[in-house]
Amino acid sequence: MKVNNFLKTFLKIVFILVVSAGFMMCSNPKDKETSSVSETQEQHDQRMSWWREARFGMFIHWGLYAIPAGEWKGETDHAEWILTTAQIPVKEYEKFTDQFNPVQFNAEDWVKTAKNAGMKYIVITSKHHDGFCLFDSRLTKYDVIDATPFKRDILKELSDECQKQGIRLCFYHSIMDWHHSDYLPRRKWESRSAKGADFDRYVRYMKGQVKELLTNYGDIGVMWFDGEWEDTWNKERGTDLYHYVRTLRPSVIINNRVGKGRQGMSGTYDPESAAGDFGTPEQEIPDTGLGYDWETCMTMNDHWGYNKHDDNWKSEKDLIQKLVDIVSKGGNFLLNVGPTAQGLFPESSVQRLEAMGKWMETNAESIYGTNASLFADLKWGRSTTKSNQIFFHVFEWPDNGILDLPVLEKEAESAYLLADPDTQLEIEYSGTGAHLHVPKQAPDPHVSVITLEFNQTPTINPNP
Ligand code: GLC
Repeated sequence: MKVNNFLKTFLKIVFILVVSAGFMMCSNPKDKETSSVSETQEQHDQRMSWWREARFGMFIHWGLYAIPAGEWKGETDHAEWILTTAQIPVKEYEKFTDQFNPVQFNAEDWVKTAKNAGMKYIVITSKHHDGFCLFDSRLTKYDVIDATPFKRDILKELSDECQKQGIRLCFYHSIMDWHHSDYLPRRKWESRSAKGADFDRYVRYMKGQVKELLTNYGDIGVMWFDGEWEDTWNKERGTDLYHYVRTLRPSVIINNRVGKGRQGMSGTYDPESAAGDFGTPEQEIPDTGLGYDWETCMTMNDHWGYNKHDDNWKSEKDLIQKLVDIVSKGGNFLLNVGPTAQGLFPESSVQRLEAMGKWMETNAESIYGTNASLFADLKWGRSTTKSNQIFFHVFEWPDNGILDLPVLEKEAESAYLLADPDTQLEIEYSGTGAHLHVPKQAPDPHVSVITLEFNQTPTINPNP
């Protein structure tokens, strides 16, 4: 009897040890809040790989707010937030649906414009905070098919074109919804009653729409959530939504605004403890890399949605340098376009995208699939690396024809301008670094790129 008891206890201990060892082996940093869709680091890297390779994408903010085009009762600083910033009652805002008839919308042109700019993915607002849906949703009548004279499923047309032209389609979907009667809280200024509103029912509606988006529009690359900051959304709901999306489509990448982990506009978060696959700095570029995946989203002027008065456009040079700066820190750049109510990209956006595309034609190799810079600080520009190459992005071209490079462990096999790969550049080495003989004139007016090739993966001299 005694022996029997001892055996039982012994077996119990062995069982507990085996189970907890198994648990510890399965858990890795990526298990965090998302254990039911856990993956190994290798599986995670595999899922993120197209996105890390891509580096450059297009954000599109489009909806009913394109009709007022930023102006309401003489005030001209509105955009996609106009319902709230101009305090337009929902019933009145709904009337824009009658005017939403963007007959000049052409999915082929939009996708081509993104592609020619060198962008590899498009993130479009399936639904912004105003609740209006650019797709045919069976769960609401407040969509482009049921509520507008246009009656064309914009996301379907884009999905077909993206597939044809080899661009990843992704959706921005707002958690906050100023239109749905079950969404809470109400805006402080509005008179709609909150009586009978049921937030859980709203969440079921939103998840139903997410399911529609993930099943009816092909292979979706990213679900980009936003509007997670109100009190009704919490960590549990965020984790649940993350699980839901990954269960529906295991390959989807999800931003960190799905949960509550985001730290304001810096977009930083703790990926070990909060849901989401990447950080989302908004309108800013971090000073250094973040140690995890991130994507800066940014406008070309000062508004996301179309604003006919906003002429504060960033220059082509600035945008190219921002792309380079972001990629040199290991991030992605999601650059926004706010189309007009007619369905066109603003001319100023198109010009800038063309300039970026022209630059990418010559220099994309130094962007796609590259890693962050090896150097903490380069006074004349930025740098990226890829296998045996280092790319130097020169923002300030030297007047004296000599570009001073930092000290590297090994000498380079070759050096050339990406704009002219057949001409070798001479490098002189000294104790303080390498000195590259470059043409007097910068080959590119915005950012000139120099490639150094090595016979192995380059490393920095540990004792410069
Ligand atoms: C914000 C805004 C929104 C915009 C978004 C882009 O959170 O609410 O209008 O869509 O950022 O990142």
